[in-house]
Amino acid sequence: MLDTLLDLTDTQKEIRELARAFAREHVAPFAEQWDREAHFEPSLVGKLGEAGFLGMLIPEEYDGLGLDTSSYLLALEEIAAADASTAVLMSVHNSLPTQMILRWGTDAQKERWLRPMARGELLGAFALSEPDSGSDAASLRCQAVRDGDDWVLTGTKAWVSSGTHAGVIVAMARTDTADMRRGGRGISAFIITPDLPGFSIGKKERKMGLCASPTVSLVFDEMRVPADRLLGEINYGFVYAMQSLDHGRMGIASQAVGIARAAFEAARAYADQRQQFRRPIRDFQAIQFKLADMASRVTGARMMLHATARAKDRGDKVTIYSSMAKLLASETAMFVADEAVQIFGGYGYVKEYPVERYLRDAKVTEIYEGTSEIQRVVIARELYT
Ligand code: CAA
Repeated sequence: MLDTLLDLTDTQKEIRELARAFAREHVAPFAEQWDREAHFEPSLVGKLGEAGFLGMLIPEEYDGLGLDTSSYLLALEEIAAADASTAVLMSVHNSLPTQMILRWGTDAQKERWLRPMARGELLGAFALSEPDSGSDAASLRCQAVRDGDDWVLTGTKAWVSSGTHAGVIVAMARTDTADMRRGGRGISAFIITPDLPGFSIGKKERKMGLCASPTVSLVFDEMRVPADRLLGEINYGFVYAMQSLDHGRMGIASQAVGIARAAFEAARAYADQRQQFRRPIRDFQAIQFKLADMASRVTGARMMLHATARAKDRGDKVTIYSSMAKLLASETAMFVADEAVQIFGGYGYVKEYPVERYLRDAKVTEIYEGTSEIQRVVIARELYT
C-alpha cells in the first residue's frame, strides 16, 4: 500500500511477500480469537523460527538469515498488520536480546544462545524495567552481587514481553550496589534462563490491548547466575540497553505502521461498501479527507522508518531518527486506528470488526520501549549535543 517511494530491492519485495503469506496462513485467521481469549499460541514460535523470522538480523554463520534492517522491518509490518501481539514477540526477539548477544557476547555465548535463538528454538526477552523504574530506567534496583563463581541476583523485573515462554532473557541488574548515584554506570547485562535456581515468573498482566502477548514480571530470589552469563563488560549493561533500544524502537515503529496500515485498509474497504443516504460513504468528502489523512500519515511514518533503517545499515548513529520514527509511527497508529473506528461508526465500537482491536493495540506503541514523552526527551537532547 502506497510503498512505491520505498524503492525496494527484489529481495526485499520477496521477503515482504513471504511474510505476507505467512501472516495470511498462520496469524491473521486466529488473531481475533487469540485476542479474545488472551491466548499466546506457543506453536507460533516454532513456525516463525522455521520461516526464518526469528533470525532475520543474525548472520548466516550463526544460523540466521543475515538480512538488512529494511527487510526485517518490512516483514515485521506484515506480521503486525495481521496481529500486533505476534509482532511484539518478533520485534523484541530480533531487536533486543539477539542483537545484544551478537554485539557483546563471547564466542561461547553466541554458540550456546544465539544459534538456537536464530533458529527459533529459544525465544528471547528483554528485562530492563522494574515496578518502580520505568522511564527512569537507570534507577533500577535489581542487585547482582558476586559470590565465588556466581553472581547472585535479587529483584523484580516488570513488563517483560513474552516472559512466560522466553528461553533466554537479557536482564539488567545493578553490579555497583554501593553507590546508586552512579546511575546507568553501575549496571550490567546478564543472560538469564528460566532454569536458574531462584528464577520465577511473577504477576501476569491483564491488558487493554496486545492481549495475546504475555506480559509478566520476573522474580529473581537470590538467583545464582554463573559468571560466564555476564554479557559484555561489567557496568556497561545500561549503555548496551540504550544502544539496543535505538534498534528496538525501530521495531516498535514498524509494528505501529503495520497496525495503522491494517486500520486504514479496513476503513477504506468499509467506506466502499457501507451505504448511507443512498450512496457508499466513500462518496462523502468528510470520509475522503479522513482516508487522505490516514494514508498520508502511514506513508510518512513508513518513509521515516525505512530511511532510518538505511542509515543504520550504513553504520550511522541513529538515536535521534529511531526516536523520531517511533514517535511518528506510534502517534500515527493511534490517529489512524481512531479514525478507522470513527468511519466504522457503531460497527467500529463492537468486536464484530477488527478496528477496535487495532485501537487497543496501537496505544501501547506510545508507551513501551520508551513513552512518546521519553522519545521527545531523547530527540531534544540529541538536538543540543
Ligand atoms: N546510545 C549510546 N549510549 C547511550 C544512549 C544511546 N542511545 N543513550 C544513553 N547512552 C549512554 C549515555 O551516553 C551515558 O553514558 P555516560 O555515562 O558515559 O555519559 C549513559 O548511557 C547514561 O545515559 P543518560 O545519562 O542519558 O541516562 P538517563 O538516566 O538520563 O536516561 C533516558 C536516559 C533516555 C531517559 C533512558 O532512561 C530511557 O531511554 N528511558 C526509557 C526506558 C525505556 O525505553 N524502557 C523500555 C523498556 S523495554 C520494553 O518496553 C521492551 C518490551 O518488552 C516491549
